[in-house]
Amino acid sequence: MTANHDLPPMGLGTWPALGYEAAEMVASAAAMGYRLIDTAQNYDNEAAVGEGVRRSGVAREELWIASKLRGKYQGRKTSQRAVEESLLRMRLDHFDLYMIHWPNPERGLYVETWHELVEARGRGLVRHIGVCNFTVPMLDEITSATGVAPFVNQIEMNPFWSRAEERAAHAERGIRTEAYSPLGRGGDLLSDPLLVSIAGKYGAPVSTLALAWEISRGATPLPKSASPERQRSNLSAVELRIDDEDLRAIDELDGSHPESPLSDPMRYEQL
Ligand SMILES: NC(=O)c1ccc[n+]([C@@H]2O[C@H](COP(=O)([O-])OP(=O)(O)OC[C@H]3O[C@@H](n4cnc5c(N)ncnc54)[C@H](OP(=O)(O)O)[C@@H]3O)[C@@H](O)[C@H]2O)c1
Repeated sequence: MTANHDLPPMGLGTWPALGYEAAEMVASAAAMGYRLIDTAQNYDNEAAVGEGVRRSGVAREELWIASKLRGKYQGRKTSQRAVEESLLRMRLDHFDLYMIHWPNPERGLYVETWHELVEARGRGLVRHIGVCNFTVPMLDEITSATGVAPFVNQIEMNPFWSRAEERAAHAERGIRTEAYSPLGRGGDLLSDPLLVSIAGKYGAPVSTLALAWEISRGATPLPKSASPERQRSNLSAVELRIDDEDLRAIDELDGSHPESPLSDPMRYEQL
């Protein structure tokens, strides 16, 4: 069993959907079986996502609702208020998961922000707390400062950038890996010749194959789709079993394409 067994095996990404479209997207996904919904303060769609959850008719306790703290709210005085603002926008009384969105190391606030999220958890505002885009030394730093390890580190991961070292380091620490941009943002990944050929063996689209590979490698992918048809096709990856030989062939694609512009959390800053 992987460290991810207690998170749903897949979630719905919601960026950059907004407004009624975002509400409909979430309602459709939850009604068809998605049990984890990923939003963020920075996506400006928390209200719409909360509305989608209610429109879906799915019981609140069956869903994992996750959001993220935006960079400008890091710090002692602002982080817990920002979590409260997220809850009010979404019209929820708790989150299942709340994460620091980017470490923004030059601001030097992520350790005290982590302290604040530990307190927010103690107040019952969030059930689990996590981070995104943290390097392994950053994970260790916040864990040793507070005695609390993140529940999850959400990082970019797909067959072009497999993140094997990070995943192994997470597993050693009991930290779950969530995969963002798991379809390579709908770009070249979906027409990669090797993936097309392997997907053909299983009678599945490349998108489903990529998501099934991520799940097999112990991550929880968060594909975004506004189309109910593609949402359904993406969800079918949970059932797809890929042979070891094919999993290893997909592993070999790692590094064959340029890294994402978001690849360096030491330099990238998002407020
Ligand atoms: N923590 C972070 O810093 C961070 C950063 C980036 C993203 N994220 C999260 O991760 C989520 C997913 O990442 P992402 O949105 O960057 O990229 P992605 O999920 O890899 O790709 C989304 C794109 O692929 C298309 N698509 C979805 N399913 C498809 C299918 N079956 N066949 C063909 N095209 C398909 C979507 O279009 P349609 O909608 O038209 O289907 C959309 O254009 C985000 O929504 C967000 O929640 C987090």
